Amino acid sequence: MTGDNKFVVVANRLPVDRTKSGWRASPGGLVAALAPVLRAHSGCWVGWPGEPDTHVPPFDFDGISLHPVGLSGWDFENFYEGFSNSSLWPLYHDLIVTPQYSPEWWDAYKSVNKKFADAVAAVAAEGATVWVQDYQLQLVPGLLKEARPDLTIGFFLHIPFPSPDLFKQLPWREDITRGLEGCDLIGFQRDEDEQNFRALVGASGPRTGAFPISIDPGAIHPGAREDVDKLREKLGNPRTLMLGVDRLDYTKGILQRLLAIENLLEQGELDDVAVVQLATPSRERIEHYKQTRREVEEAVGRINGRFGSVGTPVIHYIHRPVPKGELGTYYAAADVMLVTPFKDGMNLVAKEYVSCHPDGDGALVLSEFAGAAVELNQAYLCNPFDLESIQQAILGAVDGDPEAMRAMHKRVTEYDVDRWAQTFLEAL
Ligand code: ADP
Ligand code: G6P
Repeated sequence: MTGDNKFVVVANRLPVDRTKSGWRASPGGLVAALAPVLRAHSGCWVGWPGEPDTHVPPFDFDGISLHPVGLSGWDFENFYEGFSNSSLWPLYHDLIVTPQYSPEWWDAYKSVNKKFADAVAAVAAEGATVWVQDYQLQLVPGLLKEARPDLTIGFFLHIPFPSPDLFKQLPWREDITRGLEGCDLIGFQRDEDEQNFRALVGASGPRTGAFPISIDPGAIHPGAREDVDKLREKLGNPRTLMLGVDRLDYTKGILQRLLAIENLLEQGELDDVAVVQLATPSRERIEHYKQTRREVEEAVGRINGRFGSVGTPVIHYIHRPVPKGELGTYYAAADVMLVTPFKDGMNLVAKEYVSCHPDGDGALVLSEFAGAAVELNQAYLCNPFDLESIQQAILGAVDGDPEAMRAMHKRVTEYDVDRWAQTFLEAL
């Protein structure tokens, strides 16, 4: 049985989540990047609607045709929280926390990948192009190649691919590389990720390439002057406004940036500063995520207790998603953007910030370990494992360099997400 879709994207998540008041955009860089690509290609998206044990029939949302794949409570615990986010996520992010390996999680990973492959096989037209996304679905290419040899299959890994030494920890390492080898083309964020993979499979494996992902500059608008002024006024019109925008994930180094700010305040090197940290809840039932949240919230409380005053805290912390339309106001208002992950495939937040600063104002503090540092190498780069290095980058950024910001803006707006998708699909 085949369907009638000539272009199919399959990702663990659909680009929308169900809330009490209806559907809204789901979190993360994968969705932010791919939604505009699918609208442009009138393709369909196969993915999980974000809550276990629900049946959702196919529907259209914002110009994209969506084909939900249901996950049971067992799938959610073992495939999503377990193998995807407690084995692969920490392993692929260089063991920031220790990965756990469990045969039951692996069974769930295999059976859910099969579910996704079956769903794609049912909607894809004869000879269609299928683009499989990210670490949750690495067995899908192999399964599809077997079931539907007529398909052209691409895969893109949004997160880093670890060095062979680390990858070899994985008890099912050969199954994963074999699954990926069902592809016609595998895309990675950076050359380094591609080389790590090639070191495992040798020269004879599938075609690979590095395709750094980007943003849709049309989807994120710098806030209007009056909204920016209103926001700064609410924050007490500080001389320097610093901003962090992340999923609340241990890879993002949120605590480290707060500690660097605390040190600078203690040393009297920063004054008249306000910090806004927007942190979207993420993978909340997993213990390492709970712990990261506790540590971040404790630091926010301590820093405000030490350096804030009544009515004007230093750190303004929001643990909720912020509507996309409002993000542009935060980006435009911020003098210094803090992006300090220990490891990150790309980090679209860095690119979104730069795209909101066409005139060269603002400054970006960026971790050397974010994929974005390859293109945005004129940012104030820092080593997030070294608080002194974050502190120096922050102090440099407070003065800013308009030339550097203008050059980065040019790069981000020219090489946008359409160019990324076009380059990958042409290579495919
Ligand atoms: P990741 O994919 O690991 O979440 P990225 O920086 O690549 O990290 O992408 C995150 C995406 O999610 C961006 O498009 C960003 O705008 C959005 N996002 C992150 N944090 C928030 C937040 N607190 N509120 C709203 N959107 C957010
Ligand atoms: C990162 C991953 C995506 C994932 C997103 C949100 O961007 O690369 O695959 O969808 O985070 O995480 P979640 O677990 O909520 O889907």
